[in-house]
Amino acid sequence: MKKAQAVLADKRKIAKDTYEMELTVEEMNVIPTPGQFAHIRIGNGSAHMLRRPISIADVDPIQNTLTIIFKVIGGGTNELSHCQVGDELDVLIGCGQGYPVEDLAIQKALLIGGGIGVPPLYYLAKRLREQGIEVTSILGFQTKEHVFYEKEFSLLGGVQIVTNDGSYGHKGFVTDVVPPVSDFGSYFTCGPTGMLKAVTHQLKGQKGYISIEERMGCGIGACYACVVPIADGEGFRKICKDGPVFKAEEVVL
Ligand code: FES
Repeated sequence: MKKAQAVLADKRKIAKDTYEMELTVEEMNVIPTPGQFAHIRIGNGSAHMLRRPISIADVDPIQNTLTIIFKVIGGGTNELSHCQVGDELDVLIGCGQGYPVEDLAIQKALLIGGGIGVPPLYYLAKRLREQGIEVTSILGFQTKEHVFYEKEFSLLGGVQIVTNDGSYGHKGFVTDVVPPVSDFGSYFTCGPTGMLKAVTHQLKGQKGYISIEERMGCGIGACYACVVPIADGEGFRKICKDGPVFKAEEVVL
């Protein structure tokens, strides 16, 4: 994990309450792995001086850019959404543990994302494709207004969109369209805890990785605000430091 100064180079609203920002990082002395998050200090003397964990949707280590995507869910993310191109941001990059991209001996991967759990899977999909791994993605959103990155994912492999209200794609939940994972070497999922529970239940016994979205405090392992019990009943893991990515069977949701 490294502290870096970043400049907001580009910003666009990509779906309801959802923003994509491109940050130019002064010195990218650590290259984040897919699933790691950026911990961004928000506010300058304002009420929202805490850092917020924000998903990384892409990294360009040559151009020194990070693409982040977040949904406005409170005062901090609302303030971040109002940053303007040229503003400077204080960012911790390379936070937490990401997906084990380098150590996978698989030919096909199934990616299952829900809502704001979708962005880290895009960076993951790109890295998997670089290694010749075939990628199929199932992306769930509340409504058509919330859908983003369908085209981006479709350039990397098969993609199926699910909306809860059926206003776009398949109506229902991602678990309604999950194929037999025996067709894949492993699955990778990120999204709300309810979705992760349903996915891991449905794919029980299959090799998979989950990334847990959780409201964090310090984000660096110091405050114990983000703990999750481990499956053997012997203690806990910190989502911000030991995760947010875990083996599917490692923790109890
Ligand atoms: Fe403080 Fe995880 S947020 S220990």
